[in-house]
Amino acid sequence: MNMLRFNGFKCLLVLSILCYLTHPVLSDCRDATFDVNFDYFPDKVYFDNDIGTSNSGFNVTYHNNYVILTNKYTSETYVLYCTATQPAVTAATNYIQVPVTNVVVSDRSFISFLEILGEEKTSLKYVDDKKTITSPCLQKYNYLSDNFNYANTSLVSSVDVIFTNKPSNTGGKYVTISYDEDTPALQKAEWIKYMSLFFNKTAIANEAFDKIRSNYFCHLDNLSKVPNETKKSIAWVSLESDKTFTIKSSSFYPNVTSDAAAFLLNPQITTDLSVDDLKQYISGAYIVIDMSDLVAQYSTLDAWKNLFGYNQTSDLPRFLKEKLLFRTHKLLNSNGNDDWSESSASRPDLILQDLIAIQYPSYQKDYVVNWFNKFAETGDEVVISADKCNDATFGLPKTDFGTCVPTKFFGDGRNNSGIQIMDVGRNEGNDKHNKDGDSINNDKKENKVKPGVIIAVSLVGSLLLLGLGALLLAVSRRKYRERFVKLRDEPVVQMDSVKEVKEVKV
Ligand SMILES: *[C@@H]1O[C@H](CO)[C@@H](O)[C@H](O)[C@H]1NC(C)=O
Ligand SMILES: *[C@@H]1O[C@H](CO)[C@@H](O)[C@H](O)[C@H]1NC(C)=O
Ligand SMILES: *[C@@H]1O[C@H](CO)[C@@H](O)[C@H](O)[C@H]1NC(C)=O
Ligand SMILES: *[C@@H]1O[C@H](CO)[C@@H](O)[C@H](O)[C@H]1NC(C)=O
Ligand SMILES: *[C@@H]1O[C@H](CO)[C@@H](O)[C@H](O)[C@H]1NC(C)=O
Ligand SMILES: *[C@@H]1O[C@H](CO)[C@@H](O)[C@H](O)[C@H]1NC(C)=O
Ligand SMILES: *[C@@H]1O[C@H](CO)[C@@H](O)[C@H](O)[C@H]1NC(C)=O
Ligand SMILES: *[C@@H]1O[C@H](CO)[C@@H](O)[C@H](O)[C@H]1NC(C)=O
Repeated sequence: MNMLRFNGFKCLLVLSILCYLTHPVLSDCRDATFDVNFDYFPDKVYFDNDIGTSNSGFNVTYHNNYVILTNKYTSETYVLYCTATQPAVTAATNYIQVPVTNVVVSDRSFISFLEILGEEKTSLKYVDDKKTITSPCLQKYNYLSDNFNYANTSLVSSVDVIFTNKPSNTGGKYVTISYDEDTPALQKAEWIKYMSLFFNKTAIANEAFDKIRSNYFCHLDNLSKVPNETKKSIAWVSLESDKTFTIKSSSFYPNVTSDAAAFLLNPQITTDLSVDDLKQYISGAYIVIDMSDLVAQYSTLDAWKNLFGYNQTSDLPRFLKEKLLFRTHKLLNSNGNDDWSESSASRPDLILQDLIAIQYPSYQKDYVVNWFNKFAETGDEVVISADKCNDATFGLPKTDFGTCVPTKFFGDGRNNSGIQIMDVGRNEGNDKHNKDGDSINNDKKENKVKPGVIIAVSLVGSLLLLGLGALLLAVSRRKYRERFVKLRDEPVVQMDSVKEVKEVKV
């Protein structure tokens, strides 16, 4: 009780004494008096066995007050230290004091990683070109600076870190993140752990990646029962700047295509193709996904047909007749920039579900495809604008990655020509779409329905019993008139016992 009478000053005094007594633990790593024996990085990057440290593009070694982070592709070694003065580490290329709060990204795809970590509001300060950003919250809160001048040394020294995708600028503030379009989807997403180290948010990164990864494998497993005879072939194509064509075949493409239970169309020669070679190779593809970087004026089906040599042909290939030509331009900002380039690297679980959905719409009936637009149909594009910003989660770590509901799925029984060749029985397709975790709420509702049904059934049952009781009562009433008053209380007693039974069942 006396404690309550302490005034603010006394409280502060007690706190300071407490702080002094427990000094080593409570002192900040950046204080001159930090404790050399204290582990200032208690949350460690956790690598999953299937990807493993050997396949990850980076490696982390922990010390009490600094972390050595090695980018294996560029052989750069970053020393991330939390002390006031930097430690001396041999073979270090850069020293960066962490946690950082003033960040430049030179690649739009890094933004979605920062959003998962909850750093887009507080730490992200500069991007290369604001007009290209699709993130609704960053569109709404238009505070970022763009056209960061990398040549301005005083500007460079005023920021904490510059995340870049190419090691052309090395040393100092530059940190290279080494994935590109060919990096397998899950390996790309794992770079969230690397980025998290700069913000001391490794626990968040581990957890987010774990959820994304387990969703990915859940869908992969559930599609693994699709028989080979009914798997579809997918061709990923691209028109290059030198007017030749490429059929994509490196790492990312075979990996994610196969994980989505499809066959990658992968002929012997895949690069420097003439338009006729390309047409011949992809004529039998079930789905064609065009990854070309087309300028706006060629982003129509007619222009595309001209470019890909289908304008003089009356005999169109199946994928065009069936409108199974896709691009990754479904989500766009109002300037026509695609969200695939900004958000897909961090969400392999959604890439996989998108690829499954364009082959098998019945797998998750309510799933809304995020990035693949039906290019042969007009209007399969969505403009993401500032009003889609969820203020409640802006600047907070993202935890909602949906859930994968286990589902038995055997495909559609059709072969690559779309001909029904086998009966796959009734697929237990589910109606839940997994983008925003709506399914979690749906699950709760459904789970509530079941006890509800039990209650209803037991109530109906007890009403029937009551009815029966009333009938008996009526009969007995005729026989023993004078006992009726007493008996009238019995139904109430009966109701109570019914309630008890009901509660036990729930
Ligand atoms: C990092 O965060 C943990 C809590 O997750 C904290 O205990 C630790 O002191 C932080 N380290 C630094 C260097 O900020
Ligand atoms: C990680 O890097 C350290 C050097 O910083 C090295 O000794 C260690 O073998 C590397 N580990 C892996 C798994 O590559
Ligand atoms: C460099 O950046 C600083 C800080 O933004 C600015 O004040 C200065 O004018 C810039 N210098 C040049 C040469 O652009
Ligand atoms: C679907 O995935 C879940 C989670 O990985 C798994 O438990 C279930 O067995 C899978 N179903 C099939 C038919 O593979
Ligand atoms: C399905 O096709 C793959 C790749 O062609 C092959 O490795 C696998 O053995 C086939 N599975 C069956 C059951 O035929
Ligand atoms: C794709 O990559 C993941 C991990 O990066 C791996 O687990 C999976 O087996 C790969 N799929 C194929 C078909 O190689
Ligand atoms: C088809 O497209 C090519 C290349 O753009 C063009 O040269 C040709 O004139 C077009 N033919 C027709 C019939 O439109
Ligand atoms: C699909 O099945 C039909 C009927 O059996 C057959 O004519 C056609 O060649 C098959 N297509 C492929 C690609 O196997």
